[in-house]
Amino acid sequence: MADPWLEAYNFAIEIAKKAGAEIRRASESEIRICTKSSTVDLVTATDVRVEKIIIGALKEKFGDDVHCFIGEESASKKGACILTDEPTWIIDPVDGTTNFVHGFPFVAVSIAFAVNKELEFGVVYSCFEDKLYKGRKGQGAYCDEESIQVSDNKEITKSVIISEFGTDRTPSKVQKICNTMKRIIEIPVHGIRGTGTAATNMCMVARGAVEAFFEIGIHCWDVAAGAVIVQEAGGIVCDVDGGPFDLMSRRMMCANHPDIANRVIKEIEIFPSDRDDAE
Ligand code: IPD
Repeated sequence: MADPWLEAYNFAIEIAKKAGAEIRRASESEIRICTKSSTVDLVTATDVRVEKIIIGALKEKFGDDVHCFIGEESASKKGACILTDEPTWIIDPVDGTTNFVHGFPFVAVSIAFAVNKELEFGVVYSCFEDKLYKGRKGQGAYCDEESIQVSDNKEITKSVIISEFGTDRTPSKVQKICNTMKRIIEIPVHGIRGTGTAATNMCMVARGAVEAFFEIGIHCWDVAAGAVIVQEAGGIVCDVDGGPFDLMSRRMMCANHPDIANRVIKEIEIFPSDRDDAE
């Protein structure tokens, strides 16, 4: 049978690179900042423009009568994100907006594609590093043209773990994140890191640079593409309590191996987070 989504996959790669070039260009001029859910949840004209470029190109190529779109910037105006069985693009035009604003060179374009609520492929373009990560269900994960695999280390005390503080500064939540970080560093692990972009963090798991990444409060567009890439690189993606991964839950743990995930999960102090699909 002909490959039904090959054209979409190849187009996602092409458009992610174009969007990344636009982000690099925009980083050279003045960056004007606005805020969204909190004073530290930033958005720039580039986020909005790049999302329009990506969705515009996808609509022109595939039409919007069949394909659906969940984009970070359009979603923040619309409210709930409902994932249906229709072919759906899930897009973060600038993952790492704070990095973009501050010139910290980890910023990614994240594009995922789901059909029947299942992720078919994910593309993450780390545009300042000029590295393109991609994964397709059943077909492996790659950084540019090189196949990538998760780390084979199963010893937590020889691991590096990524987590992030996110954009919610409610004192009780910040306290729980700090407690969790303290508990993990005291296991002890080799280190805790964070690139400031969830999509890139997931690619770090996929390429074996770290053993695990988890965060509560991320959105579906931050993790959809990375989830396919990690799984195709041989890793696992699950909930922060060890249950099945739920794209709309705003909670995500990914790791090279269940032993590492379960050991980290023991230390996570979970806090509530509204779902992306909450009305
Ligand atoms: C953010 C990044 C960051 C994560 C935040 C996200 P954005 O995405 O992925 O690493 O900690 O939770 O909101 O806002 O830069 O697209």
